[in-house]
Formats: sequence, C-alpha cells, structure tokens
Amino acid sequence: MHLTPVTWRDGQLFIIDQTLLPSECREIRLPSLESVREAICALRVRGAPAIGVCAAFGVLVALEEMRPADMAAGLQVVDAAADRLETSRPTAVNLFWALRRMRQAARAFAGQTGSLRDWRDRLEHEACALRDEDTVCCQKIGDYGATLIPDGAGVLTHCNAGALATSAYGTALAALYRAHESGRAFRVYVDETRPLLQGARLTAWELLQAGIDVTLICDNTAAQVMREGRVHLVITGADRIAANGDTANKIGTYGLAVLAHAHGIPFYVAAPLSTFDVDLPHGDRIPIEQRPGEEVTRAFGRLTAPEGVAVYNPAFDVTPARLIAGIVTERGILKPPYEEAIRNCFENHAEPT
Ligand code: MRU
Repeated sequence: MHLTPVTWRDGQLFIIDQTLLPSECREIRLPSLESVREAICALRVRGAPAIGVCAAFGVLVALEEMRPADMAAGLQVVDAAADRLETSRPTAVNLFWALRRMRQAARAFAGQTGSLRDWRDRLEHEACALRDEDTVCCQKIGDYGATLIPDGAGVLTHCNAGALATSAYGTALAALYRAHESGRAFRVYVDETRPLLQGARLTAWELLQAGIDVTLICDNTAAQVMREGRVHLVITGADRIAANGDTANKIGTYGLAVLAHAHGIPFYVAAPLSTFDVDLPHGDRIPIEQRPGEEVTRAFGRLTAPEGVAVYNPAFDVTPARLIAGIVTERGILKPPYEEAIRNCFENHAEPT
C-alpha cells in the first residue's frame, strides 16, 4: 500500500485531506502554521505517527512563513511553532515526540553551523529522516505482525491504523498487507468506528484498494461476529502506550479488548516505539482528548439526535495491559509482563521476539 498521507515536496507541505475520503482522495497544501494546526485538529491528517510527521514538517512551514533574520530568531520560531502545534491534539504522544526531536535538532544544529540557510536545511533533513524512519518502522511492524495472521483467519480491526495513519504502510494494517503479500487468505472485519467513521471511511477503503477481503460491521456487531466464531484475532493501532503496556487508542478499543477476552480471542496492538510514553507508569495518566458533541449529534452535517442533548465524546480510551496478548513493534512482538519487556526494549535495544 503506497499511500502517503503527508508529503513534503519542493519545500511545501501537502496532505491527503482525510475528511473527504472515501468520496474524494484530494491532496491539499498546508501553507501556514495555523493551517497545519487546523488540519490536525480537524482530523484532515490523523493517526498518531502521521500527526507526528506532519507536525515536524509544520515547524519548517512556520520557518518559511516567519522568515527569521538570524539563528536566534529561528530558534524562537521553532519553539513557538512547536508550542502551538502541541495544543492541537493531546493523546497521540507521537506529536510531542516529533516536536521534541525538532526542538532538540534545532539547538544541536545551531551549535554546529553559523549559516542560517545551512541550519534550516539540516532541520529539513531531520524532518525527512523522522518520516523515513517511521516508514521503516511500519515495514518491520508489518513483517512481525504478519506472523500473527494464519491462513484462513478472521481478523477484526478498529479505527484506522493503516497507511493513512502513518508515513506509509501503517501499523496494524501493515501486518495485514504483509500477510496478504505472502499469499495468505484471511477476512478482515472492520468496525465503522463511530463517531467519525475512520473504520468505514478509511480502513475499508484502504483494504479494498489492496484487494484484501474486507467486511464492514457496525461497532455494536463486534460481539456477535466473535460469538459466531468468525474472528480469530483482533489487532489495532495505538496513540500512547504507558510503561506498563496500558494502551490508549480510538474510543471503543477497550470494549473490543474486553469482548475478545470474553470470547478467548487474542487482542494485539501494533505501534512503533515513538508511540510509547515510558515516563507514564500506567494508562490512568494518559490525557484523553474530548471532542465536540456535534460529532455525535450531527454526524456529517445531519441532525441525528435531539438539539441540545448532552453528549460525552472522548476520542480515546485505555485498554489495560492485562487484556493485550502482544504489542507488535519494529523490534519484535512484546509479550507480558510488559513493564519488563518495554524496559528491556528501550534500555537494551534487544530484539524481544
Ligand atoms: O482520532 P484518530 O483518527 O487520529 O485516531 C487514530 C487511532 O486511534 C489510531 O488507531 C492510532 O492513532 C494508531 S495509527 C497507526
């Protein structure tokens, strides 16, 4: 799946506007810092790794926009842009990870070169490197994840952890793409993923394009397909994984993990190490984004609930580590006990599988 949701071309930032999918696959340019922030807030670009990559390039957009006169002013632009972008969406830690990396690179390069032009070019190189590293991570996650998908399996996924959500290939869907490429036949059940339908609009679209056998279900059908014996494993992406393996992902993921547990079905998470927040001991500390009630009452412009009704609309939930059978990373598949597996992975760079 060679779909790239974020593209840096001739010093300009382009994204596929995912709010238009699946009716239209249109690339739009993000010409200013505020347009980058708006695109992230409005989910024109979404998915934890893609948000991080887009924000990294957003820093370059801000530099182009502000045109600082010297490196000291340039460093101020980088910090101000990163501060602003960090207020876009709170849960996906990749956003903060990518912006921290851009801030650190800006400082390090400032000590290595006297030329403003050279400094800016090095920062551009850093953003491109971050993007390319994400692509490699996704390929490796695909290779490891594919080993979990037996021939003839029924797989259930939620939201979109595909090419659209990363620099390329995806995380959970990368595993499906690799299994498909290696000739395995399997069927994927895709939750619609209310309220914004990332499963229906994005995952079903991606998988159909790749020629994978895909069946769309309403979110509330998941228990029934499990009970009917159609699902052999569940695999989703992640927005933030705490040091003990507790995992934040799209609202509804926790419910799926509970259902999978009740039916004796393994529940897997796939994510790069840039999605881990090892400073958080457990998932209760993960900030959960609250989204506007209109996303629930006015799905895609039409009133679907009484005007004025109270709405609770958290965008993410946290799945406790004890419900997760394995976490697929670029360094292999982490298995419980996660605290130890994650610590080893970060400290020793050991291959955990
Ligand atoms: O609100 P979204 O669409 O950004 O939520 C995305 C998800 O929950 C994905 O599963 C997650 O970011 C992983 S993307 C590889």
